[in-house]
Amino acid sequence: MKGIILAGGSGSRLSPSTDSINKHLLAVYDKPMIYYPLSVLMLGGIKEIMIISTPEDKSRFEGLLGDGSSLGISLIYKEQSDPNGIPEALTLSEYFIGKDDVTLILGDNIFYGQGFTTLLRKAIKDHEHATVFGYRVKDASRFGVVEFDDNQKVISLEEKPAEPKSDFAVTGLYIYDHHAVQKAKNLPFSDRGELEITDLNQAYLDKGQLDVQLLGRGFAWMDAGTHESLFDAAEFVKITQQRQGFKLACLEEISYYLGYISREALYEKGKSMEKNDYGRYLLEIADRKHTKQYWDPAVNQNPMLGMIENE
Ligand code: DAU
Repeated sequence: MKGIILAGGSGSRLSPSTDSINKHLLAVYDKPMIYYPLSVLMLGGIKEIMIISTPEDKSRFEGLLGDGSSLGISLIYKEQSDPNGIPEALTLSEYFIGKDDVTLILGDNIFYGQGFTTLLRKAIKDHEHATVFGYRVKDASRFGVVEFDDNQKVISLEEKPAEPKSDFAVTGLYIYDHHAVQKAKNLPFSDRGELEITDLNQAYLDKGQLDVQLLGRGFAWMDAGTHESLFDAAEFVKITQQRQGFKLACLEEISYYLGYISREALYEKGKSMEKNDYGRYLLEIADRKHTKQYWDPAVNQNPMLGMIENE
């Protein structure tokens, strides 16, 4: 399974904040936005990841995350010269995907909730052709929307409909087989001049090959694409972290709990940043080693591995 984070686009909805910096490098409370989707792919067990961004910003992402080796993963970078639409992420990464399956996540999407890792790993393991995730929202007209029949069977998908046929938005997390590349190549441009991810998902649905998994009310899903949603996301992260003392999307912590980096490497990283809260948190994790009180009580395990059943 390969992973792709799409982190290009014009960021025009966040202008002027994004006039000279890529949206996905803006902070969501205490860390760059891209940490959140990257943490999702890592929790899904994906170790080979391509980050797609604009020609101007590619080097900034490389400067931030490097080749991924310090996290025990492999990161490569690709440019998208114009924001032609989300499915272009698949055509741009054709050679990277090869004959593998691929999980694509939008760079401004944040997922959080107990059991999310288990759900994602199961979806990745079980998926056949295409899997997407539906989430109930109040303002579905901002998103791709799922239509169900009376038996809860998915019958259509619509992109930003003026009158949504349900309250279920399609989140920016998609799992595809490698045929998605060819399918993306065959898509027409929509009326707004973009390739639409909803059209790609509809193509799978038309063949009876789309699995839509609904995320329940115990999960939080946010996109941080507007000033308001960015502010809301930051507030959510702040409140959740301050209450529990755990950080969301702390990449080094995830890496450590997944066994990709050693305790010593975690400690060194923390030491190099000990003047700030993030660094001190890493030092705290490195010290926790056998401290059971920090384990996840729901599964009596460490906070990452405990969520991954049967592994
Ligand atoms: O967040 C989920 C929604 O994302 C889905 O429900 C919609 O079906 C999907 O179209 C998308 O809607 P958005 O209006 O949020 O898409 P947006 O144009 O804002 O792009 C989403 C992310 O992808 C954003 O972080 C920028 C990046 N992007 C987007 C385009 C079109 C690129 O990097 N390149 C692009 O060409």
